[in-house]
Amino acid sequence: MSKNKNILKHLAIIMDGNGRWAKERGLIRTKGHEKGAEVTREITRYCAKHPTIETVTFYAFSTENWKRPKYEVNFLMKLLDSWLRNELETYHKFGARFETVGNIEGFSPKLQETIAYIKKETAHHTNVTQILALNYGSREEIAKAASRLANRNEPITEESLGNELNTPYSDIDMMVRTSGEIRLSNFLLWQLSYSELFFTKTLWPDFTAKELEEMIEQYVNRERRFGGV
Ligand code: IPE
Ligand code: IPE
Ligand code: MG
Repeated sequence: MSKNKNILKHLAIIMDGNGRWAKERGLIRTKGHEKGAEVTREITRYCAKHPTIETVTFYAFSTENWKRPKYEVNFLMKLLDSWLRNELETYHKFGARFETVGNIEGFSPKLQETIAYIKKETAHHTNVTQILALNYGSREEIAKAASRLANRNEPITEESLGNELNTPYSDIDMMVRTSGEIRLSNFLLWQLSYSELFFTKTLWPDFTAKELEEMIEQYVNRERRFGGV
């Protein structure tokens, strides 16, 4: 019996395990973030070439990650800035458009400038849209969207609230979390309602396009019922 295969348009990834990867090697945690950034590039390359993936959303910094030691937070901010600047060429090479979701007003003016610049320079690319979730928290996103609707005296419905979220209203087909943690950590709670979830013990710096490809092979054959029979 042949069955329709699922199409993967929007993939979301919780990149987790950078710190543990570094610790296992006797390195400081920030080395794991550096290696992790390279993996983000490789996965974006894969997504840009993939025939059906239109969007890949990576969780890079949560609203809760400010709780980390100052040294690590500062390192992550600097890494993001220098990485984005160096990455422009790669975005052009992959035909990848850069976007963000989250409260980037919480970042330094310099970093905000870099983010705006890379968005502008890559806006014309169509192979894939790479969204980095930066200073992102799903509860905050939902609460702010509801409050904007209420202030405008507009009805709060599934459709209006979905459209008001900062992440353009697009259901996520598939979500991957690395490092063996089985939780969402405040990531895209609304948009993940009917996603197919994948968890792997692989730490983010060790994750590969090959492992992703194997997950996608499972995804296309999963039965997505959306409440039907
Ligand atoms: C994910 O790796 C990257 C960020 C949250 C920025 P972690 O830094 O959370 O690594 P672990 O979970 O401590 O190993
Ligand atoms: C989630 O990872 C956030 C990102 C990957 C950016 P965390 O490492 O912060 O999540 P918890 O603390 O294990 O839930
Ligand atoms: Mg973690």
